[in-house]
Amino acid sequence: MKKTVVEFKNVTKIYKLFKSDKLRLLSVFYKGVKYTEKRAVDDISFTIKQGESVALIGRNGAGKSTILKMITDVTFPTTGDILVEGRVSALLELTAGFDLEMSGRENIYLKGQIMGLKDKEIRRLEPEIIAFAELGDYIDQPVRTYSSGMRAKLGFATSVCIEPEIFIVDEVLSVGDAVFRDKCLKKVNEIIDKDNVTLLFVTHSISDASQFCKRGIVIKDGKMVCDCDMKEAAKYYKEHMAE
Ligand SMILES: Nc1ncnc2c1ncn2[C@@H]1O[C@H](COP(=O)(O)OP(=O)(O)O)[C@@H](O)[C@H]1O
Ligand SMILES: [Mg+2]
Repeated sequence: MKKTVVEFKNVTKIYKLFKSDKLRLLSVFYKGVKYTEKRAVDDISFTIKQGESVALIGRNGAGKSTILKMITDVTFPTTGDILVEGRVSALLELTAGFDLEMSGRENIYLKGQIMGLKDKEIRRLEPEIIAFAELGDYIDQPVRTYSSGMRAKLGFATSVCIEPEIFIVDEVLSVGDAVFRDKCLKKVNEIIDKDNVTLLFVTHSISDASQFCKRGIVIKDGKMVCDCDMKEAAKYYKEHMAE
């Protein structure tokens, strides 16, 4: 039996929507500030075992990114329990966590440490990350001097080269130019080919999902409407949800 690496137990996420940022801030100090609620994730439960490859599919606004953000601790559930077991690497917000005043090289260490690596391990991976990012001499310049494309490349390179156990990809395979995208796809393939790596994949493309994933979870309006093998999930999506 493979071990469980991600488990959701009756997870619900409700966002509070305020009319303005000012009201949002006021609500921290005063009860009774008016807001409406958005149930982005509605009572979802599932279990993912080590080595599985799972696609989350659903229309825009279904709640896919919110699910991934709760796994990576970017946001937290309103109710319910989440268990995550293993080193998570997320292609989610590629440039999150960078320190703009530090150089690219220093940021590799910063991100590595955030992801739980020891300096010795980061030192071993550093040359590969730098080569992958294709930044040349810029690697020792402060990240604030980078273009957004360069920042994304550094973020991608760091995320994919640090040997993740749980690998999360959220519609970011369009980073940079076509050549870099091909290199990224190849690298993603290489990562998930390893036996014990677990993949959670969000994409608009059912064909990309079918290429990478064996299991599909279909999300509609925050609810899980289908959790089955990828072929059936693709069929369900086409029959019930495609425009
Ligand atoms: N930070 C937020 N504040 C308020 N509403 C949000 C926030 N993030 C997402 N939402 C809302 O939650 C719903 C689900 O969003 P999301 O998880 O990004 O969907 P998906 O990734 O499937 O397109 C959407 O209606 C979206 O507008
Ligand atoms: Mg999304």
